[in-house]
Amino acid sequence: MNPIYLGLFLFCFSLYGWADTAAHVATSSQGMVVSEHYLATQVGSNILKQGGNAIDAAVAVGYALAVVDPCCGNLGGGGFMTIHLANGRNVFLNFRETAPLAAKPDMFLDESGNIIPNKSLLGYAAVGVPGTVLGLETARQRYGHLPRQAIMSPAIELAKNGFTLLPEDIKRLYRSISEFQQQPNVAAIFLPNGKALQAGDKFIQKDLANTLNQILQKGTASFYRGDIARKIVDASEKNGGILTMRDFAHYQVQMLKPITCTYHDYQIISAPPPSSGGVTLCESLNILEGYPLSQYGYQSILGTHYLIEAMGFSFADRNVDLGDPNFVNNPLQHLLSKKYAAEIRRRISNTHAFQPADPSQQLPRQSLETTHYSVVDKAGNAVSVTYTLDRYFGAGVIAGDTGFFLNDEMDDFTSKEGATNQFGLQQGKANRIEPGKRPLSSMTPTIILKDHKVFLVLGSPGGPRIITSVLQTFINLVDYRLSLQQAVDSGRIHYQDWPNVVDYETNALPENLMKPLISMGYQFRLQNDWGAVAVIQYNAQQKNWVGVMDKRRPLGAALGI
Ligand code: DON
Repeated sequence: MNPIYLGLFLFCFSLYGWADTAAHVATSSQGMVVSEHYLATQVGSNILKQGGNAIDAAVAVGYALAVVDPCCGNLGGGGFMTIHLANGRNVFLNFRETAPLAAKPDMFLDESGNIIPNKSLLGYAAVGVPGTVLGLETARQRYGHLPRQAIMSPAIELAKNGFTLLPEDIKRLYRSISEFQQQPNVAAIFLPNGKALQAGDKFIQKDLANTLNQILQKGTASFYRGDIARKIVDASEKNGGILTMRDFAHYQVQMLKPITCTYHDYQIISAPPPSSGGVTLCESLNILEGYPLSQYGYQSILGTHYLIEAMGFSFADRNVDLGDPNFVNNPLQHLLSKKYAAEIRRRISNTHAFQPADPSQQLPRQSLETTHYSVVDKAGNAVSVTYTLDRYFGAGVIAGDTGFFLNDEMDDFTSKEGATNQFGLQQGKANRIEPGKRPLSSMTPTIILKDHKVFLVLGSPGGPRIITSVLQTFINLVDYRLSLQQAVDSGRIHYQDWPNVVDYETNALPENLMKPLISMGYQFRLQNDWGAVAVIQYNAQQKNWVGVMDKRRPLGAALGI
């Protein structure tokens, strides 16, 4: 085709694609799906239409995102699913990766005890035993209605027959092009004929379709005891990894009690350890509950000051006290008590930053991804899922012809006390590497109830910024009375105790707010936008669901049924 016509066609196509498929706001009384990719959202919405419940739809979205958003949606990673069942029960699935049985606390250190650059981030040593497949299947079997065939077929179709790439897909696929070029099996998928795909091309993933098909036909055994595990273990052995067949055979999903707390009239249900998400969110909210945020107002000096302090105190506890509860005791009662929050408030000055800024502390600037999605159905089931490969495209490796990337979740452990990981987190002993242990996470899939009914379903990617993104979205909505879309889209700040710098997005801190905060002792640093909140709110007056996908993720979509 003449390149000018082709360009015109693609432009019109992408605009059409946007308008038709990628609405960032939707309403429906029957059910809602919000995810970071419009094709995955469509898959979920179709499952609801076919009579599947929110759990069926969530599992189908999980498989679909593994195909249409391979940087972040995954089979080779792990995550968490928070569920509020229509019968009022709250349940939580922990399908976080585990450290291989041969893992050692000092496995990422050299002989002098220094961190070996990138070893916990790239290649097979970085890989934790993946939990996604068993997590999704466990959720479907326990709480879903539909057979595996109905749930997995849309993802298999998308992988086998391909889908047309939009310009935004291209941006997302090719941020790590040099990593693709170095590995023939990865290049064969992502650089067919040695070249990057273009907008308008079909992206076909035959290997991934075969893998999904094996899971469909043979169940999770194919992944954890059969062919797929074997291929991963072989590739790991050849490339300096420590994964074994025993690691896969031992992998288990855990059903945990979610973290719960209250904030004014709301009940928060969120991720327990091995995620720090729920605890840190609740501790921050407990602290903030003692301040009249709604009187201070949105972007007020005091509201922002107390928000930063609440983040700092709760992250300081997060970084030291929390770890996989199968290995360490997490002082949850203490951290979640209102009394402890009151003690913290007594330590917070009304006029000064608790810790004076230290300009020598720097955090690497990185763009990092994960994916969150939210689903509700007409019966009143709500599902909040965050799952991840950790880094963009995880450890950057695909085993043989399995067709999916493996995670680098080992970087979430404390490789060395006092050192920082890729997110600048300085963590403690509680999160040291041990065989079979799960690394501490910040993923915060959350459901918020009001009068015992689902009010909000939300979560985000963003490493530690997940927690502060969820926190700000919620207080923007309930304290500052922003509309749901404004609550999601407005600029964010983030503070994690170390480094002693508050990150901010454009529009988060107008000058008349930043200046007085600097004179209170804060230091700020502008960062690229982060997070991608996918949220559903119940509107009690209209008796319907409102879904909003963060504008930071142009390919995302909210879709009712
Ligand atoms: O579990 C965690 O906290 C991280 N592995 C999540 C990584 C992440 O969100 C990267 N994203 N933007």
